[in-house]
Amino acid sequence: MWKKTHDIGEINPSMDGETITVNGWVHALRVKGKIAFLVIRDSTGKIQATALKKNDEKLFEHLKELTRETCISLTGKLKKHPEAPRGIEIVPERLEVLNSAATPLPFDPFADFINTNKDTRFDWRILDLRNPIPLAYHKLRSEVIFEVSKYMQEQGFTFWTTPKVLGAASEGGAEVFKVDWFGKPAFLAMSPQLHKQAIAANTGTKYFEITPYFRAEKSRTRRHLAEFSGFDVEVPFASDEDVWPIMEGIVKTAADAINKHPELLEELGVEVPEVKLPFKRLSYDECVNLLHENKIEMEWGEDFSTEQEAKLWEIVGEPFFIYHFPKSVGKFYVREVEGDPKKCHAFDLIFKHELSSGGWREHRYDHLLKNIKGKGLNPDNFKSYLNFFKYGAAPHAGFGMGIERLLVTLLSAPDVREVVAFPRTVDRLHP
Ligand code: AMO
Repeated sequence: MWKKTHDIGEINPSMDGETITVNGWVHALRVKGKIAFLVIRDSTGKIQATALKKNDEKLFEHLKELTRETCISLTGKLKKHPEAPRGIEIVPERLEVLNSAATPLPFDPFADFINTNKDTRFDWRILDLRNPIPLAYHKLRSEVIFEVSKYMQEQGFTFWTTPKVLGAASEGGAEVFKVDWFGKPAFLAMSPQLHKQAIAANTGTKYFEITPYFRAEKSRTRRHLAEFSGFDVEVPFASDEDVWPIMEGIVKTAADAINKHPELLEELGVEVPEVKLPFKRLSYDECVNLLHENKIEMEWGEDFSTEQEAKLWEIVGEPFFIYHFPKSVGKFYVREVEGDPKKCHAFDLIFKHELSSGGWREHRYDHLLKNIKGKGLNPDNFKSYLNFFKYGAAPHAGFGMGIERLLVTLLSAPDVREVVAFPRTVDRLHP
């Protein structure tokens, strides 16, 4: 039976003489006359098994026929072997093929990984994810999600879930996917924005969610996915400045979580950039001035382009918040700056690229209605949202932080697609 006794990563020379069973995949097989060297791999590591024809001819013949990436269970005795990669090897006694792999493989997930065409890799992600590099990204992604969740719970947040199919486009704009809802038009949530506000402002709990976002944005860049994940936060009785330390806390927690796994960082060949708190705070005006001083054109009232953002990152040289954006840039749900009606309480966190954005929200019904109309949106489409603010909704502030963007920042990954198991983009809806 294929009941494993050990993960391969646990096996060490002190186990000499023990009989073990491991389950995994045929990583490599080399037959030299009457001797066969098999490398078996699981998600924790690799180990060599050496079979001699003279020991068990039937087993030897069976083993010889294995194709690469076949799933097997192997039982055998461990034998110290100083020249074997782990200093110990398996002498096979029983081999069970759990599922054989067809030949040829559509691509070799272990040879020349970086130079393999990305589309081929993502078409055959089931093979690609067997490589230690994509696997390391996902093990670290998992650590970050666990540790950030723990951190948020320690900070007194409640984990909520909000609907992902909506009766109205959540944030206005054209970047929304339409779906059929029992014959009626519906939309995939671009973010949990409207419901997270409803929760924080009406329950008084500090809202936290790990949520999918759907964006029908035709951006073919290394930082855009059509479906991505976010850490979403909304805090009652809070302003923008009150939530910045939580953003900082999440980034620091994520960096610490990753740094607990030097073996995975070594696999990726990267170091986590230093996360020194607090992050710098710069107003939109200061950022525009910095660009002007560096001879970069920028019109007041516009959002920063990718290039302008990259230039700012270069100039500032450390993570920074941009606050007090012009109202023309901020969303309708963000509050105006008191005494400065051209500006609003929207903010971004820049760490290599835009890592997170948020705002101090507008919780007053009449102001909100004015903002919706001011953005040229139809208030009829926001009826149920506006109702959230009719019965004593509390002031609140919050943000959304893209998990893939965060991982790209901390792991210097080349592309957001690398840190999601099955990427969804303009050009990819399968597998
Ligand atoms: P925004 O649209 O800026 O704000 O999104 C929040 C964060 O999500 C990430 N992000 C993306 N990641 C991958 N692919 C994309 N296409 C993509 N678009 C955005 C970024 C970004 O900062 N509701 C507001 C947040 C709030 O105010 O609370 C919102 O969705 O890291």
